[in-house]
Amino acid sequence: MKKQITVIEGDGIGPEVTRQSIRVLDAIAATFNHEFNYSYCLMGADAIDKTGNPLPDETIESCLNSDAILFGAIGHPKYDNDPTAKVRPEQGLLKLRKSLQLFANIRPVTTYAPLLHLSPLKPKNIEGVDFIIFRELTGGIYFGKKETNAEGTQASDDCVYTREEIERITHLAFQSAQKRKKKLTLVDKANVLETSRLWRKVVQEIAIQYADVKVDFLFVDNAAMQIILNPKQFDVILTENMFGDIISDEASVISGSLGLLPSASVGKGNALFEPIHGSYPQAAGKDIANPLGSILSAAMLLEHLGLGKEAALVKEAVDWTLANSFVTKDIDPMNFYFTSTIGELISDYVSGKIPGSVKKENIELRKSTII
Ligand code: IPM
Ligand code: MG
Repeated sequence: MKKQITVIEGDGIGPEVTRQSIRVLDAIAATFNHEFNYSYCLMGADAIDKTGNPLPDETIESCLNSDAILFGAIGHPKYDNDPTAKVRPEQGLLKLRKSLQLFANIRPVTTYAPLLHLSPLKPKNIEGVDFIIFRELTGGIYFGKKETNAEGTQASDDCVYTREEIERITHLAFQSAQKRKKKLTLVDKANVLETSRLWRKVVQEIAIQYADVKVDFLFVDNAAMQIILNPKQFDVILTENMFGDIISDEASVISGSLGLLPSASVGKGNALFEPIHGSYPQAAGKDIANPLGSILSAAMLLEHLGLGKEAALVKEAVDWTLANSFVTKDIDPMNFYFTSTIGELISDYVSGKIPGSVKKENIELRKSTII
């Protein structure tokens, strides 16, 4: 199979984690006889530095002409600490999501048996957690009118949702629930917000078409607590843009690290795959970031292209590294491996260079790359 992939490495740790994913995709291509061609494009602080524009037109053009997009991370402290900046890296990502109409951001949350003890949560409460967050991605407060008055003493961000925006992601979330444990939880703030009341109304109406799915509703403040208290109760969580942003970072605590969570953004045509973590500037260039969020995003990309066997092999390789304690610093600050070593191990596993049964002791030769 021949596929064109746009790669946007972005800022901070984006380039170094994305490089490991490309390595893994190349190993998949060689093993399964596919051809992946990559076009590298700019976005974010990197793009502002080089072109003055957080999302150059060529990047949109390339994305529109690709079969899939792999994206790293966005953001730079020089903008975070400057609230007056007119041009910001994040504008690039938001504009890309909007231009490609990537209205649904899908964030699976799972646990890994070898990491259970590392979570600040009790292993017995998180063992076997497996849910998926459907976050609306092109509406709500992120995209409403933004204003600051002339004196700079008052600011506002409008939160707007249309019925159509709610309907399209709600159908995707119900269809996913039907293939899973058949439970959908709408997270909103319907006791306060008008937009949340519209979400509830639309979801209740659509629920009738999916009678095999059990639906419940949680206010976002309660949901934030339940995700920590009893995460096993969830199957599919459906929510609006900003609530989804917040609760997905929170949910990553269950997996053991923010660096582990992948995501897929899908919509009317193109699809973009990115780890949920940010640009983590403190770690940039140090080869210590966790590449698994990006590599698992690449697995979601493969699945999206209809390459289920290939995606399963990448996930198996990830499980294998974790089972053998080949982990980055975020997971084990005392005994960790480099970003590039994890990428190398996973691509070697995919290429069949490491038999699945091999024990850690047998590849200690790789210690040359171990701190
Ligand atoms: C995410 C990020 C982005 C968001 C930022 C970088 C704009 O936090 O993808 O979760 O808020 O959507
Ligand atoms: Mg976020």
